Amino acid sequence: MNPLFLSKPRRNRKNHFTRELIAENQISVNDLVAPLFLVDGEKKKKTITTMPNQFRFSLDEILKEIKILTDLSIKAIALFPVIAEEKKDSLATYSYREDNFYLRAIATIKREFPFLQIISDVAMDPYSSDGHDGFLENGKIDNEKTLPILSKMALAQANAGSDFIAPSDMMDGRVMAIRRALDENNFLETSILSYTAKYASNFYGPFRDALDSAPKSGDKKTYQMDFRNGRESLLEMNLDIEEGADILMVKPGLCYLDILAKMREKTNVPLAVYQVSGEYAMLQMGIEKEIFNRENILLETTTAFKRAGANLIFTYFAKDLAEIL
Ligand code: PBG
Repeated sequence: MNPLFLSKPRRNRKNHFTRELIAENQISVNDLVAPLFLVDGEKKKKTITTMPNQFRFSLDEILKEIKILTDLSIKAIALFPVIAEEKKDSLATYSYREDNFYLRAIATIKREFPFLQIISDVAMDPYSSDGHDGFLENGKIDNEKTLPILSKMALAQANAGSDFIAPSDMMDGRVMAIRRALDENNFLETSILSYTAKYASNFYGPFRDALDSAPKSGDKKTYQMDFRNGRESLLEMNLDIEEGADILMVKPGLCYLDILAKMREKTNVPLAVYQVSGEYAMLQMGIEKEIFNRENILLETTTAFKRAGANLIFTYFAKDLAEIL
């Protein structure tokens, strides 16, 4: 080989402008979804110990936060309700009650910010006295009895004005059940963003603190995926596509980039990724302790999602990133 023509990859890294020209992936504010925690009442902005700098907001306070986010050109929020223990029951009935503060908040946010895309969460756990995503009977999750509950919840949210129904429960057949319920009730434009490959992960701990939603018994391994399995995500993916999902999600993010890349190779359906609460906690605590540079670590972790194939990114750093970008 002529040493003169030996390829020298470093030449493409020689200065900032060259690197900008050849960069394969760019993260943009258009990719970001900001998850927010909503609590009943007013004038509340409560800290979450395991998620420093994230809050449980009452509606009046969340509207202020959303104003900041939309001023930064953020296009979507994922809204999660914090439900008081006395409102929980085994059938999660509060989830579709008409006076439900979460549903009222969706309607208000939609009225105040008509262009903002609201992604609402469908799963029983925030409302369940058992803390599980499905209906628990004699210590077991009953998949078939869960589906009608999820459908009712989805319909109530669509009716309130949600743009995207996001089932995060991992029951079999829920996308089809929800799609059918939406179509039969003429919510033809309401999208489904499915948590397609959601792993039984240790990284959800801080979220469960934020919502007070940890399972009262057992764990979620009979419905969330086993982290030893990669190919199984393609099975879930194919089902969700057949059942009518519009966007597919991989969750958590950083430990599951291989799953994202695998799915990206096999589908043209848009993919989302969730940088979950535990990832947030690790990074945020590292930033606060000055182990990481805030801007650099946020850009690196989220650009990795783009590189692996994500179209959109759920991240508690959405506001920080929008400021940086
Ligand atoms: C529950 C739900 C969880 C998350 C989103 N929806 C936690 C769980 O499955 O226990 C986790 C999000 C996060 O950790 O940031 N349906």
